[in-house]
Amino acid sequence: RGIRVASCAVESLEKEKTSYATKVTRNANFAKLQAGYLFPEIGRRRAAHIAKYPDAKVISLGIGDTTEPIPSVIAEGMKAKAQALSTLEGYSGYGAEQGEGSLRAALQKFYLKLHPDTGVKASEVFVSDGAKCDIARLQMMFGADVTIAVQDPSYPAYVDSSVMMGQTGGYEADSQQYNKIHYMKCTPENDFFPDLASAPRTDIIFFCSPNNPTGATATKKQLEELVAFAKKNGSIIVYDAAYSIYISDDSPKTIYEIPGAREVAIEISSFSKFAGFTGVRLGWTVVPEELLYADGFPVIKDFNRVMTTSFNGASNIAQAGGLACLSDDGWKAMEELVAFYKKNVEIIVEAVTSVGLTTYGGKNAPYVWVHFPGQSSWDVFAKILEEAHIVTTPGSGFGPGGEGFVRISAFGHRENIVEAAERLKKLFG
Ligand code: MLT
Repeated sequence: RGIRVASCAVESLEKEKTSYATKVTRNANFAKLQAGYLFPEIGRRRAAHIAKYPDAKVISLGIGDTTEPIPSVIAEGMKAKAQALSTLEGYSGYGAEQGEGSLRAALQKFYLKLHPDTGVKASEVFVSDGAKCDIARLQMMFGADVTIAVQDPSYPAYVDSSVMMGQTGGYEADSQQYNKIHYMKCTPENDFFPDLASAPRTDIIFFCSPNNPTGATATKKQLEELVAFAKKNGSIIVYDAAYSIYISDDSPKTIYEIPGAREVAIEISSFSKFAGFTGVRLGWTVVPEELLYADGFPVIKDFNRVMTTSFNGASNIAQAGGLACLSDDGWKAMEELVAFYKKNVEIIVEAVTSVGLTTYGGKNAPYVWVHFPGQSSWDVFAKILEEAHIVTTPGSGFGPGGEGFVRISAFGHRENIVEAAERLKKLFG
């Protein structure tokens, strides 16, 4: 069970007999991967369902992909840049690999707005094509010899990129875990915050808040504990703040609100869920100058080397969009967009709780984490798809700690969310 869901397409390719093979040995780390990446697998099942029921109106609340148009004040910024590229004065080619100075400065201001004491400097911000890509680039920088810890459940890119890099041993079917990764269980019993007292030291700790998939948001006190834990162990936290704009209580919106975090934490974030940039592609990573390797070498210098070697800078049009996002009007428009998705969350939560299901998250995040105690996530996923024509994401796809849960994304047009809510009420009522 669990995430053992090898993609048919890949299986059939493997079985296919070809008359010619190169002499290149396959990277053995890739052979350790248990399944296709989670979201393409969900997409495959969705496609199979549509083929089976061509007349059904399938509602996709699986992958957290934004659905609402980019606010025009932000699109206008990109339009103006695109137009300028057609003029002699406005044309630009390669930009700085680290991002344009104006956007890095705007991101520095963004941190200042989040909290007066983050200390983030423009020169510490690396603009990129998204947080997922930066996770892979960070892994390239860390290399094969580091040990990692992840929240369990967690965004699958942390674990899968770790396996690809060769940081892990093989997969253990019984525990549904890769050897050498420490899975920090996050369940309702511990309020979705790991028991750090019993956690072993690892070099790297991936930590996402608001969490994908559970929606749980760490409090200031919990993050202080996390930073103290990293400091005691000499670990580096990779803090994923891709959903910080969904926070509406006083939970920290950046790890740098926590004193001492600059010595132990890298932060990644993205405009994807802030402004509907999942297709535009724009994110950033902050590497503080104070963050040092064991030999005293600054991590920022190596990350700069990675970016200048393997990346040529984010699209200049996308960066103009990012600047527009961070203008006063852009910020207001993003808040409205986020409020729209948060209303969707309320509609879903209301529906599933009205039929007696327990949900978590859904306050500071665009995901609703629904509990189906004692049931297999993939079975519940299949039931919801088969009987309500709604695509969700099985919790176990995010790690063994997600077993017994299903994640419902609140990214959707309002009428689809309302209809999905009705169907879920009928299905479980
Ligand atoms: C998700 O559904 O978890 C996210 O949309 C995936 C992503 O951000 O890459």
